[in-house]
Formats: sequence, structure tokens, C-alpha cells
Amino acid sequence: MQDETAYVVTIDGPGGSGKGSLAIRVARELNLHLLDSGAIYRLLALKGLQQGVDLDQQHEVVVLLNDFNIRFDAGDDLSIPYLDNRDVSTEIRREDAGDAASRVARHAEVRQGLLEIQRAFLKPPGLVADGRDMGTVVFPNARFKFFLYASIEIRAQRRYKQLINMGLSANIAHLQAEIAERDERDQKRSASPLKPAEDALIVDSSLLDQAQVTELVLSHIREAG
Ligand code: C5P
Repeated sequence: MQDETAYVVTIDGPGGSGKGSLAIRVARELNLHLLDSGAIYRLLALKGLQQGVDLDQQHEVVVLLNDFNIRFDAGDDLSIPYLDNRDVSTEIRREDAGDAASRVARHAEVRQGLLEIQRAFLKPPGLVADGRDMGTVVFPNARFKFFLYASIEIRAQRRYKQLINMGLSANIAHLQAEIAERDERDQKRSASPLKPAEDALIVDSSLLDQAQVTELVLSHIREAG
């Protein structure tokens, strides 16, 4: 059940569309809590990889939820994800963790098992939640819903810069192929596929910088009050 005193802003979209940094900026500007739901899928995938689980087998992945010990601590800029009390901020950002996350995310029982964990992030005064199904499944009653997208070339370039800035190696052509493959997997799965909620405002971020997208979203929220 959603807390009636707290409101939700959902930001969904494919990887590299800029929804993560948009969510951080909007949450900061409006003083709201933040849910990076992709990080939760990445943490579960990391746990599976560590334990040598076959990520394509739903029953093997579901078992991991019985002992899924995660938390997010406030950092200087981004929040710091912990898995079994270990800081895994760099590990979960790697492309192999993203790819593994999209494999565990295909299983309906896994998604169901993660629902309550995600909804528990909603506390007064409210929450900005980013992911693939925030507006369609996790917070269908959200007050504001946005769906962000950008061309695949632009998304690959953004991901490249992100990884290089983190000191990780990357290759643009390889990234573009991986993003296309992940898009296809996220859009075609039967459990909560990536798609805009019917009442979402669709924003094309291809030709806008972060500040412009943030301003567009904030002004929409402020105008709607
Ligand atoms: O957004 P991020 O790249 O961190 O997400 C990693 C993967 O987790 C996505 O490719 C997607 O398959 C999955 N995911 C999801 N539902 C969400 C958030 C992420 O299926 N709400």
C-alpha cells in the first residue's frame, strides 16, 4: 500500500537514456527519497554470479531472495550500494553486471519478490523512482510519470563516458551492440516489459543536455502542482 501522504515521481526508460542522473537531480531539487531500482536487480545478479547460480533458471534465482542482504548508504553524490555489507558501487556499474541484471529481471517470480523491497522506499515526503516498470507495475498510482528515451547511438556514447569516468574500460561499438541486445530483452520479456505507462509523459533526451531535461521535468511537476 502506498502512503497517501507521500507522492511518487516515476522515471522509466531504456539504459543510457539519462534517467538515473535525472532521478538524482529531481529528487535533490524536490527533497524526495530516491529509488534506483536497476541497482537492486544488479545487486541480485551480482549475488547470483558470486554463488555460481544459472541466472536463466528462475528457481535458482528466486532462492537468492531468501538471503538478500542489501542496503544503500548516503554518499557524497550517489548513494552507495552494499551487498552482504560490502561496498559494491563499482562492481554493479560494470556492463557484465548490467547484462546479468537483465537476465534475472526476466523472471516473473523474481520481479514479484522484489516488489515489496522497492515499495518500502516510499516514505514521506515522497519518492523519485527510476527503472523500467516503475510507472506500470511498482507504482501504478504515481502522481507524476515520465518515460525517457534517446537514440541508441547517443545512449552508447553516454554509457561510454560514464564507464571511462569511473576508470573502467569500454568500447563504443561493443556497448552499442550490448545496449541493443538488452533493449530487446527488456522490451520482449513477458514479465513487466519495458514500455511507457499510458499516463506517462514521453521525453526524448537525444538532443537535450541533463540540465534541460531536468528543467523540463521539474517545470511539468511544478505546473501540475
Ligand atoms: O537501469 P539499469 O541499467 O541499472 O538496469 C539493469 C537491468 O535491470 C535492466 O537492463 C533491466 O533488465 C533490469 N531492470 C528491470 N526493471 C527495473 C530496473 C531494472 O527489469 N525496474
